[in-house]
Amino acid sequence: MGKITIAIDGYSSTGKSTIAKQLSKALGYVYVDTGAMYRAVTLYAIRNNLVGEDNLNVEAVIDELSRIHLKFVPNQLTGKSDMFLNDENVEQEIRTMQVSRQVSKIAAIKEVREKLVAIQQQMGIEKAIVMDGRDIGTVVFPDAELKIFMTASPRARAHRRYKELLDRGDKVTFEEVLNNVQERDHIDSTRKESPLRKAQGAVEIDNSDMGLEEQLERILNYARRLI
Ligand code: C5P
Repeated sequence: MGKITIAIDGYSSTGKSTIAKQLSKALGYVYVDTGAMYRAVTLYAIRNNLVGEDNLNVEAVIDELSRIHLKFVPNQLTGKSDMFLNDENVEQEIRTMQVSRQVSKIAAIKEVREKLVAIQQQMGIEKAIVMDGRDIGTVVFPDAELKIFMTASPRARAHRRYKELLDRGDKVTFEEVLNNVQERDHIDSTRKESPLRKAQGAVEIDNSDMGLEEQLERILNYARRLI
């Protein structure tokens, strides 16, 4: 069986990571959540007061990059990988609203992107990988054999994220989550560095009214034709 690269991009909370995880499991491929990497850098920046509600010290973030070490470590209990920041498991902390509010500002910094894209390209060197993010089909793997672009209405997406956060016990309002989803989409699609775009040749899937099974089946069909 051949090995391919599958790039999944799209707006916030379109269920990219859920689909990507299932896809990688079905194909026996490695899954990489690149959003977790941007979130981990953001957490580092928040802890060191380099970014906050009204501040962003771009130069200091760039200066600190060499002190930020990221790795994914498989978690036997969940069967997934946890994000480690300088040898600390930050998998839970990177998913909070506090990080969600700042992450798009950090992800717009060119030097941050260069560092993370280089790591991601290295991870995918042997193919047999499913990677999800905002620039995978456009920048990280422009030659990926299969590119998917996921969309859904902002309300459908905010509902998913809201439920996820409530399930974790976070105290958030639906409006807060909807605003955050829309604000991140705006920053991610209008930034100068690698804005979120549908890659050339990408298959677009609007899953506002589509169940997980149906999406998975469709993407698996595309993949199997290429493998
Ligand atoms: O995928 P997730 O919603 O966790 O990503 C968090 C943020 O990280 C996005 O809103 C975006 O600003 C940034 N990101 C990015 N490029 C990627 C993955 C994520 O800019 N490849």
